[in-house]
Formats: sequence, C-alpha cells, structure tokens
Amino acid sequence: MTVHIGANKGDIAETILLPGDPLRAKWVAENMLEGAVQYNSVRNMFGYTGTYKGNRVSVQGTGMGIPSISIYVTELFKDFDVQTAIRIGTCGGLGKTQLRDVIIGMAASTDSGTNRRATGGLDFAPIANYDLLKAAVDAAAAHGVTYHVGGIASMDLFYDDSNALDVLEAHGVLGVEMEANALYSIAARKQRRALAVLTVSDHIITHESMPSEQREKSLNAMVEIALSAALNG
Ligand code: HPA
Repeated sequence: MTVHIGANKGDIAETILLPGDPLRAKWVAENMLEGAVQYNSVRNMFGYTGTYKGNRVSVQGTGMGIPSISIYVTELFKDFDVQTAIRIGTCGGLGKTQLRDVIIGMAASTDSGTNRRATGGLDFAPIANYDLLKAAVDAAAAHGVTYHVGGIASMDLFYDDSNALDVLEAHGVLGVEMEANALYSIAARKQRRALAVLTVSDHIITHESMPSEQREKSLNAMVEIALSAALNG
C-alpha cells in the first residue's frame, strides 16, 4: 500500500498503461483486457490488472498535470516495481496534425519547473524508450492510422493566454498535453522504460475538436498501439 495506491505488491503488473482519466482506465480494463480485477479506488483513481494476449498488464489513471502523474508514477516505479509505463491520452494538435491522428512522443518538452529541482537547474531532455517507440511506430504503421513521431510538450496550463504554443509550433512540436514530461523524466531517474501514445482530440490552430462519438474509436487504435508496443518493445 502507498499513500495513493491501495494495492498490495504483486497486484500490479510490470507493464502498465497510464490514461489521465480514471474512467478511461476502467474502459480499457473492461474492453481491452481479459479478466481484469480492480486494485485501486483511492481518490477514485481507478487501477486494474488483467491480461492482453496472455500477458499480464495493468492500467492506472494518473489525473491531469505533472504534479498528479508524478505521484502515481513515482509510487508505481518505487513501490510496485513497474518496469514499463506507457501513457495513453489526448492532446491538442499543432502543425500539420489533424483530429484523430496518433502522435508517438519521441521527446517531451515542458514549461514546468519540476525537473530542474531534480537536476539542480540543468535542462534535462526527457525522451521515450527507443524499443517501445520503435514497436509503437511498427504497430501504428500496421494498424493503418495516420500517425506522427516527434516532439510533444507537457504544459502546466490548459488555459494559456501566452504565446507558448506558437513557440512550440515554431520548434516543430506536434502536440501539447500535460503529463508525458514527468513520466519520461521519472522513468529516466528510476531506469525504467516509458512512452506516450496520444490521440489529437482538439487542434490548437484550427480550434476543431473531436465529436464525442468518434472518441471511442480513436481510443481503440491508441490503446491497441500502446499494448502492442508494451508486448513487442
Ligand atoms: N492542452 C493541453 N492538454 C490537452 C489539450 C490541450 O489543448 N488537449 C488535450 N489535452
């Protein structure tokens, strides 16, 4: 048991998917895993363990933002020995990305100050695990979805009136969300493997957003790619 995860050691698989939304964790457990058992309900941040193609996999909600996901991944790595963690989530698209496209995050920039506390002020560049990244790219290509591989950014503010998003776009960043930077950074410090597979749910420049009936179908593709990366990467 940890402060935020009411599970026993062994209840959580070595491989875990991390959606921000706990109800998405429930959806993945019920629709994509076999024999899933719920191990956490503390703060309604649901977590489940089941199997996918015979392999033990967990799925855990993380909440929104770097402070929240930092709590969950720290406990998962430190107290539950999780080795491979793949974030599945939505993002705002930049540049040529379009609604429903999948983005596989090679590196995760941020405006958060959390990493600098750990590095003593040095600007560490958090990256995805290459084996997971490659397996996700192979899975996305085989799936037939439109996908992009490149930089993403985990921003502290969802509602941001500054020009930060223009700056990110000028640097070729593909999408903005709020968590991957912490996942990649904490994984690096704990020597674990991490990746983020995202779906573009709204577009920052065109202001389009995905109609709710399309969200489930897109979710399916993203989860299949993440599970395939987890198993083959
Ligand atoms: N900003 C940050 N996080 C997000 C967004 C966004 O526009 N869309 C989905 N997650």
